[in-house]
Amino acid sequence: MIPLMKTSITRLLALLLFQWVGAGSAAAQTAATPPTLEAERAKQEKIYQGRGELRLEGYVIDRSLSAYVRALPQGFAQSLANLGPEERWLDVGAGQGMAVLDYYAPEYDPRQAGRRERQIKKARSVAMSIEDRRTPRWQQTADTLEPNQLRYVFSKPLRDYTTEELGRFQLITDVIGGFSYTENLTIFMEKVLSLLTVNGMFYTVAQDVRNEAGSNKPFYSGEPFLSQIKNAASQDIGICAWLKKISCIEVSCEYKSDWRPTLETYRIRKSCDNVSVPPLTTERYVAGTPPERVFLLSTPAAAPATKP
Ligand SMILES: C[S@@+](CC[C@H](N)C(=O)[O-])C[C@H]1O[C@@H](n2cnc3c(N)ncnc32)[C@H](O)[C@@H]1O
Repeated sequence: MIPLMKTSITRLLALLLFQWVGAGSAAAQTAATPPTLEAERAKQEKIYQGRGELRLEGYVIDRSLSAYVRALPQGFAQSLANLGPEERWLDVGAGQGMAVLDYYAPEYDPRQAGRRERQIKKARSVAMSIEDRRTPRWQQTADTLEPNQLRYVFSKPLRDYTTEELGRFQLITDVIGGFSYTENLTIFMEKVLSLLTVNGMFYTVAQDVRNEAGSNKPFYSGEPFLSQIKNAASQDIGICAWLKKISCIEVSCEYKSDWRPTLETYRIRKSCDNVSVPPLTTERYVAGTPPERVFLLSTPAAAPATKP
């Protein structure tokens, strides 16, 4: 089992390093001062841009395709293997794009994932990252493929792309990328679902969140869950329950209690185009790897009372 972040000591170290990274910006926030969104955005940007020794240990950018298969829900390997040559895969928050590069490696054989016939040509793909993390391997792989079979897009978050820029996809993945890092989960999901074709699949994960059954505790004692979605009564309903309120999708959530930190995985099939995502407002965003976030679920405005 490859941990997504190793131990609480790692988290502590990451925090210490993180305070150092942020030292130049928000000039010593005292414990009594709540973090401002602007200051946290600036710290988060430093995390994205950290290179060499300035890259935080918890900011992993090079997970392989086999690490994706282990982390993502059941079905991902099969969905990838089933893609035809004209179909498209988007990896949101791809880092160096290792998983995508592994897919194009000659060693990747979709028959290992259960595909019957030999696939002549692999699908098209787009790897997205806020910062450009490409390595020489990226260009070497691109040189072996058709123009536009493999694209790397960077310099802005998913929400700032149009469908015209990216096109539409049969498969979208996110392994501790935008889904875990965005400060606006509603806009993020709206964008993902607008880029997905009907019957397309979105596979993603979240670390250290309230699971669907509500049976788990935060991974680090004394700390809250990393991402919370609170209802009007200020109860954390968990990400799974919120995803299940989105129209035109089928969602299954699976909790992986043996991961460190624990993981909940999400398998989403888009079933029709009339998608509506329940709005969330961001109550708390603290930069990190990934950031700590609290979202509030807006309650629908009460219908005006009608006279009997
Ligand atoms: C921790 S790295 C994970 C990289 C890769 N998935 C892996 O597992 O090796 C986070 C990635 O998500 C990207 N990211 C964060 N927020 C994003 C957003 N809103 N839209 C697109 N990419 C985002 C970062 O730029 C980075 O490429």
